[in-house]
Amino acid sequence: MSESRLPVVLDVDTGIDDAMAIWYALASPRLDVQGITTCFGNGGIEVTTRNTLLAVELSGRHVPVYQGAAHPLASAAIDTAEAFHGQNGLGEAQLPPVQGRAERQPAAEYLAAALEGGSTTLVATARLTNLALALALYPALARRIPRVVVMGGAAFCPGNVTPVAEANIWGDPEAAALVFQSGIPITMVGLDVTHQACLADRHLGSPAGQSARPYAEVLAAASEFYMRAYNPGAAPGDRTCPLHDPLAVAVAEDPSVITTRPYAVTVSLHDPATRGMTVVDARSRVPAPPHPIDVAVAVDAPRFVQEFCRRLGYRADP
Ligand code: RIB
Ligand code: CA
Repeated sequence: MSESRLPVVLDVDTGIDDAMAIWYALASPRLDVQGITTCFGNGGIEVTTRNTLLAVELSGRHVPVYQGAAHPLASAAIDTAEAFHGQNGLGEAQLPPVQGRAERQPAAEYLAAALEGGSTTLVATARLTNLALALALYPALARRIPRVVVMGGAAFCPGNVTPVAEANIWGDPEAAALVFQSGIPITMVGLDVTHQACLADRHLGSPAGQSARPYAEVLAAASEFYMRAYNPGAAPGDRTCPLHDPLAVAVAEDPSVITTRPYAVTVSLHDPATRGMTVVDARSRVPAPPHPIDVAVAVDAPRFVQEFCRRLGYRADP
């Protein structure tokens, strides 16, 4: 891979939008995807790892996949998201068998080794459990990681699991709190911006574009499922669905696609009403925190969506 590409590791819970993010990243002219770690989330860990292996195989590329956490730090129970991703995590698309398997090294150990070099960005589009485990194993790691782009949180908008909590933070708030307090430079790509970066019905059904891609059939079925899940009962035509995880990859590739502001962000843990909330201190008169989180507050959605459509073979806007 060319030296001018930014080395990245993806941490995913594949998931429809995670698969889209993987394909978006693997088609990037500017990113060098060195490895992919998996976490429970949109499905159980066996499902998300199988889907990740499949996404990589269908891309025609060879990228090592490392299986990670099966449950959050503080609980053996998991919350999954079949309503949005289907029982098989890819919108009940017909899935070909996976040929390869995950590497032997656990995800947290791989993350520590991969990020320790100080030049690799992590794009985390799942619960932050794997990174929290890596930090617990190697606390010095926090000072070595140049940046983590997190798809997660809701700064100034409602949550998508509870009134205030977004799924990736809600699914393991203890892990998110640990990561957010670690001092690692973090860009938080939350629902404030991902809900503005949407695929629409007019982008679907570009057989000429998508059929050239080996993942075309899986992507077409998964996109339709995802669109239906986000627009229950709506007729095709006006539907949209947010491109959460691909936007995080786009931010790693080109931070100028969003506008950020540096804020203190606390993850709520102990109040059942607000558990999993990313509490953003936007008061103007408080002193700047020592390690602010770069919170995305605006996105150039047309630019991102156009590039997303072009890269994955959807019908781009004229
Ligand atoms: O809230 C959206 C996030 O939750 C995305 O990463 C999606 O894949 C799910 O994990
Ligand atoms: Ca995800």
